[in-house]
Amino acid sequence: MELLILEEVTTTGCLFSVIIPSICPLILLLLSWKLWYVYYNVSKDPQLSLPLPPGSLGFPLVGETLSFIMSGAQFFKNRKKFYGNVFKTHLLGNPTIRVSGAKNVRKILLGENSLVTTYWPTSVRMLMGDGAISHAIGATHRMRRKALLKAFSHDALTSYVPIIQEVVQQFIQKWCREGYVFGYPECKRMAFKVACRVLVGFNMPAPEHQKLLTVFHVFLDNLFSLPFNLPGSGLSKGMKARKILLERIEECIQQKQTQENDSGFNDAMKLMMDMEGDEKLNLEELKDVGLELLFAGHATCASAAASLLSQLAKKRAVVDRIADELKQHGLEDDRSKLSYDVINKLSFVSNVVKETLRISPPVGAGFRKVIKSFELDGYQVPRGWTLAYSIRETQEAAEMFSDGEKFDPDRWNQIKDEKFHYLPFGAGSRACPGKELAKLILKIFAIELSRSCTWKLLNESAQINYLPVPHAADGLPVEFSQIITNRPRAFTI
Ligand code: HEM
Repeated sequence: MELLILEEVTTTGCLFSVIIPSICPLILLLLSWKLWYVYYNVSKDPQLSLPLPPGSLGFPLVGETLSFIMSGAQFFKNRKKFYGNVFKTHLLGNPTIRVSGAKNVRKILLGENSLVTTYWPTSVRMLMGDGAISHAIGATHRMRRKALLKAFSHDALTSYVPIIQEVVQQFIQKWCREGYVFGYPECKRMAFKVACRVLVGFNMPAPEHQKLLTVFHVFLDNLFSLPFNLPGSGLSKGMKARKILLERIEECIQQKQTQENDSGFNDAMKLMMDMEGDEKLNLEELKDVGLELLFAGHATCASAAASLLSQLAKKRAVVDRIADELKQHGLEDDRSKLSYDVINKLSFVSNVVKETLRISPPVGAGFRKVIKSFELDGYQVPRGWTLAYSIRETQEAAEMFSDGEKFDPDRWNQIKDEKFHYLPFGAGSRACPGKELAKLILKIFAIELSRSCTWKLLNESAQINYLPVPHAADGLPVEFSQIITNRPRAFTI
């Protein structure tokens, strides 16, 4: 009997020692989950009797970040399908409301400084620095933008054309020599070289350029990280890369200050350094703006250039139409020099670029912080929350783009008022200041491709990854060959 009782006690003790340690963490998990939801539900604005948008806040602290990183654009598409144009989530350390649809996006973009203000995730803010234009607000923002826009005036863009053309031609010739290349990393190299030369004024030998690009990619790959700067974390790797890049930019600024410039060409950074009065930027601001320009001007253009390469490969008839247009303007010879004014006359080339940015917008969304609670689609958008206005889903859902999956440059001949339905460069007071330069680079790329080579995609149905910008997961393998003209080539990179 005693033995039996002892056995029972031991068994019950064993059960407790197994059950309690396994149940306690579960209870704690459920409790913290509940508190997580309660915390954000009470952070609603009591002045507005509207509910929060539908959606999930995911797990405590990490929210839905891991799922977002793993599924990219599909993450938003699935939720939009399930919850509609306005839904809540929790990403990169912030409760976030994701919004799509032209009417909703218009309200956000025109509400800059009254309803919303600029806000990028903590990791982006730390990596880009306080001097970045995209983080400045009010008068500082206006001043910095004004300074930057001088670097994209008609005269400045005209002076950038020969440099862009030279870099683009060099890359296409290299691809033709090599025959088989990975289109996306090559477009990144090309866009980085254009950004280095035109925006910052770096002109370095190929190995040094490659080293800088490698550091830049560490910076870029960790831009959207969890906001913990711990050893080995994404943010810490990004911060180390930022330090190296800023040192190189500072060297470049010092060279410009001390050395005579006899090339007759002024890059965007030099134009900003020469600014006087209120618009003059100090050294720290200049360095941050230089880094921002390299980032903004390179990753986006690389993604768009690779999309262009891919779309044109699938639509040879479009390439033939570009070639016809070039012929009409006497530009069919790949040695002829381009000028900004002539490029602006090529309406079909312009439509091709517009359509590429519609089908695959390089920036999927813009971020804001809500400064005054307001209503959207019958839900409240509470003060203090992060807001992401979607470019990709807004363009995809726009009814004016009938047969939206089709790459059809001619659709742009009919479309009249696409504002807020078509937003590759954003809109309002924070619209992309580099958009004319970006379009120019893409037009020159389309022209040089169409008149100097033929190319073929080796995988027409590659999976697309969306972070940090859309790109073919397999790197976009492409086979290039040159259009034979019996002329010697003298380009090297
Ligand atoms: C295809 C290429 C490009 C695309 C698709 C693109 C897209 C965008 C978008 C959507 C925004 C607005 C984000 C928001 O609303 O918060 C933006 C802002 C910005 N872009 Fe671009 N961009 C491109 C190229 C460039 C280039 C070449 C530069 C610079 C040389 C540049 C510099 C900037 C800057 C500085 C901002 C921040 C503006 C501000 O906050 O006032 N971008 N870009």
